[in-house]
Amino acid sequence: MKRVLALLMFIPMFAIAAEPPTKEIVCRACHGAAGAAPLMDLYPKLNGQNKGYLVSSLKAYKAGSRQGGMAGVMTAQSMSLSDADIDALASYYSSQP
Ligand code: HEC
Repeated sequence: MKRVLALLMFIPMFAIAAEPPTKEIVCRACHGAAGAAPLMDLYPKLNGQNKGYLVSSLKAYKAGSRQGGMAGVMTAQSMSLSDADIDALASYYSSQP
């Protein structure tokens, strides 16, 4: 019984610390696992980036105010993200080594 309780207490902590947000599966296709291994040289790494910068970048893509380079790709990607998604994804990537 004690073991089961210990396990039950451990699972949520593990989930918060290590589980990526559901929508990360899409980002992974281009930015790689944990945002650390982009598919191409022109795709940025996201791991360890400041959370505030990630939030403001995603909101700028979504608003269409960040343009140039390959921004069009991210404008399309960010359209389906809510503020809560953006916050969760930014928290996740900023905490990756
Ligand atoms: C189809 C490929 C593709 C997918 C899928 C994708 N990205 Fe991107 N991402 C890019 C490219 C290309 C850029 C560079 C855009 C530019 O030049 O501004 C970029 C840039 C970014 C940046 C800005 C990084 C910086 O250093 O300024 C963030 C943040 C980002 N992506 C987050 C995400 C998140 C979160 C997701 C998942 C919801 C995602 N991306 C999905 C291709 C992709």
